[in-house]
Amino acid sequence: MKSLVLLLFVAGASARVFERCQWARLLKASGMDGYRGVSLANWVCLTKHESNFNTSSVNHNRDKSTDYGIFQINSRWWCNDTQTPTANGCSIPCSALLTDNVDTAINCAKRVVRDPSGIAAWVAWRKYCKGQDVSSYIQGCGL
Ligand SMILES: *[C@@H]1O[C@H](CO)[C@@H](O)[C@H](O)[C@H]1NC(C)=O
Ligand SMILES: *[C@@H]1O[C@H](CO)[C@@H](O)[C@H](O)[C@H]1NC(C)=O
Repeated sequence: MKSLVLLLFVAGASARVFERCQWARLLKASGMDGYRGVSLANWVCLTKHESNFNTSSVNHNRDKSTDYGIFQINSRWWCNDTQTPTANGCSIPCSALLTDNVDTAINCAKRVVRDPSGIAAWVAWRKYCKGQDVSSYIQGCGL
């Protein structure tokens, strides 16, 4: 099982850092603009401050859980990293959130925002985007 986990990480090792407008276009094409009432600019603001648009971002939390990928999705609630006891709400290995194919991460972010706390589940959104004029995050993208 250890080798399987290692394999998953190696297979998903190709990281990707998006350019702002490229990421905004991809989010829009994935149906994120207005998803659960969250505007495209808010999604771009959230991911800017969570990961700097870097799919290989990994950050450890004080409660021993870990946040993965461009949306910094948490291993206690949404994915399984075999380290944290998890509800695995997105039914995925956390490593799937680190690949250059962001479809899994976007689908999981949609699942997260469908929860009652919605977009406020993301600390960086509360800290840097909530109540702010976030229009600059999609400015010049032609969207
Ligand atoms: C993306 O994140 C990875 C993992 O933290 C890091 O090694 C890499 O340097 C980052 N890339 C950029 C362009 O910041
Ligand atoms: C997480 O993955 C491990 C290894 O595949 C598995 O043994 C475990 O049951 C999984 N946990 C959950 C909650 O899905």
